[in-house]
Amino acid sequence: MEELLAGLRAAGEDTRLRLLHLLSRAEFNVSELTQILGQSQPRVSRHLKLMMDAGLLDRFKEGSWVLFRMREEGRGAEIAAAIVAMIPRTDPVLRRDLARVDEILQARREVADEYFGANAKNWDEMRSLHISESQVEDALLNMVGKTKVNSFVDVGTGTGRILELLAPLAKHATGVDASREMLAIARARIAESGLDHIQVRQGDIFSLPFDDDTADLMSVHQVLHFLDNPGGALEEAARVLAPKGRLFIVDFAPHELEFLRDEHAHRRLGLSDVDVRRWCGRAGLSVDEHITLPSPKKDGLTVSLWACSKGVAAS
Ligand SMILES: C[S@@+](CC[C@H](N)C(=O)[O-])C[C@H]1O[C@@H](n2cnc3c(N)ncnc32)[C@H](O)[C@@H]1O
Repeated sequence: MEELLAGLRAAGEDTRLRLLHLLSRAEFNVSELTQILGQSQPRVSRHLKLMMDAGLLDRFKEGSWVLFRMREEGRGAEIAAAIVAMIPRTDPVLRRDLARVDEILQARREVADEYFGANAKNWDEMRSLHISESQVEDALLNMVGKTKVNSFVDVGTGTGRILELLAPLAKHATGVDASREMLAIARARIAESGLDHIQVRQGDIFSLPFDDDTADLMSVHQVLHFLDNPGGALEEAARVLAPKGRLFIVDFAPHELEFLRDEHAHRRLGLSDVDVRRWCGRAGLSVDEHITLPSPKKDGLTVSLWACSKGVAAS
């Protein structure tokens, strides 16, 4: 009773209901929420605090950013989800909020697209800046093993390096990426390799150009930290993955290198094991293995690898 009443009281105000609605859709920082709602920062912060105290929201710090999202576990999460389910989607104020959300997300995507377009040529060089790529690739090959599969999909393939690396295991290998510039380089790489069972397609991670349950092996290498909604990308990958199919995620572990956000379009400063497991759980994937490869440099980045599978009981 206590928790329910606290939750209902906290959400029982129009700005707070709008906030809950927004935070059920994506994670935002206070300045983004201020922009969407058109209200002052102190006011928005006060509303957020009230809902945090009532257990409806989670707050987490990432470098210099503090992000909020609707709570996803426990009693507070159930109450928040029940309230959000009752919010009328056709309400004009909420629709206006969502239009502003779209503008913000679109602006973020444009920054990332520009970045990838501009850096396509030297991407292979850049990706080796942080930790030895050959070590990461060896660890990935080791994790994937030698079992041959019918179809392999590399999501966010970029210049196609991982596509080329794992393609020998598959009868058909396809890389998907949104950036034409990246794909142009991937195509040149494929042509040079002489492998004719590989192809690339332009497409969006959140709406992959494949039918349900069709890929036996998938990879998403150094892509999720660029996304607003990594969990959504994993849900889409899980849709395409065949039952018992395997997905390999490679990304940075949580770090504090703020310049990667400012200068290299990173949306998240690495991914935590807890977050990846939570997103996988929601997508119907189990995490079968997780390893980390720390950088030999003092302030270097640690690379994390996760082996996941679909339709196997969660670990
Ligand atoms: C850092 S690069 C990694 C490329 C490659 N996986 C590698 O490790 O070399 C990230 C790639 O994700 C792609 N990307 C980002 N958001 C995307 C989206 N929504 N749909 C498809 N590709 C996306 C970018 O175009 C870029 O090529």
